Amino acid sequence: MAINGKNNNQRKVVVLNPKGGSGKTTVASNLAAFFAWQGSSTALMDCDPQGSSLHWLSNRSEDLPRISGIAANKLNLQATRSWQLSAPPGTDHVVVDTPAAIRAHRLIEFTRGADAILIPVGPSDTDIHAATVFISDLLLVAKEDRRAGRLGVVANRVRERTVAYRKLMRFLDSLVIPLVGVLRDSQNYLHAAAEGKGIHEFKPYRVRKDLDQWEPLVRWLETRAVGIAPIERPPVQVERSMGCIGRPTATPVPSPVPGPVARMTTAPLRTVQPNDVVESDSAGNGTTAILRSTGS
Ligand SMILES: Nc1ncnc2c1ncn2[C@@H]1O[C@H](COP(=O)(O)OP(=O)(O)OP(=O)(O)O)[C@@H](O)[C@H]1O
Ligand SMILES: [Mg+2]
Repeated sequence: MAINGKNNNQRKVVVLNPKGGSGKTTVASNLAAFFAWQGSSTALMDCDPQGSSLHWLSNRSEDLPRISGIAANKLNLQATRSWQLSAPPGTDHVVVDTPAAIRAHRLIEFTRGADAILIPVGPSDTDIHAATVFISDLLLVAKEDRRAGRLGVVANRVRERTVAYRKLMRFLDSLVIPLVGVLRDSQNYLHAAAEGKGIHEFKPYRVRKDLDQWEPLVRWLETRAVGIAPIERPPVQVERSMGCIGRPTATPVPSPVPGPVARMTTAPLRTVQPNDVVESDSAGNGTTAILRSTGS
């Protein structure tokens, strides 16, 4: 295994949330399967000692599009060195599954070099509380500048019309980090895990609703791939109707990449509203501010 940085065309998506069971492996494995399904040369890096992503990969049939596994979990190296393990030459997409319980001071080891960082958040009270702590660690300790536009939250295991769902949406609404996907609680993910498949690899009629929910997510990732920072984009309006992020109304941005994601040309983004307030960190340097809405 080469110890090297990524090549220029390679895109790295890190799935990160120290809260156990938030959906990291589910999102990472389904995303890797999506990239492979659409014809990209794809690698799945498992940084979790539990090896759940590699286990998923071991369930995968050889008839399905190939995904290279990178066992970053087994190496007895300093994390910073194992992080630099590179994918096989010619890899277009590397998806990184990370472990639970990463301490704040180690977050930067996992975010370094990422083009996008997906944060799956579950709907329970403890998930919401843990996400609050994690996001503030990411901004304040790991010094992630949200204006770089790498961060996207994925609401996971949601059940619409529940109190927990409404609470999660209120919490996510209060962040300026965009909500880039809403995935329902679905048995399809359990079948996918058991078969080493992604949602996109099932017969569409079986998973129609889930496919629809992945579309804004992969569309947002596509805008990361072409290097578009949301803060510089024209303002867009996001409607959160029917339990899913709405369609932005901004001017479409053409994508140079062919394939299914090439049609997905705009990024969902919550813009600053007149009644938003800014909570700066104690250093007051403005780079770590969190905006909260005082509206309803
Ligand atoms: N949208 C979903 N619908 C139904 N089940 C889900 C969904 N997302 C995750 N799960 C299930 O929830 C459990 C935890 O998910 P997952 O393993 O992806 O979380 P994780 O964040 O990787 O956990 P860990 O922190 O232990 O690595 C798994 O059994 C998974 O199949
Ligand atoms: Mg996991």
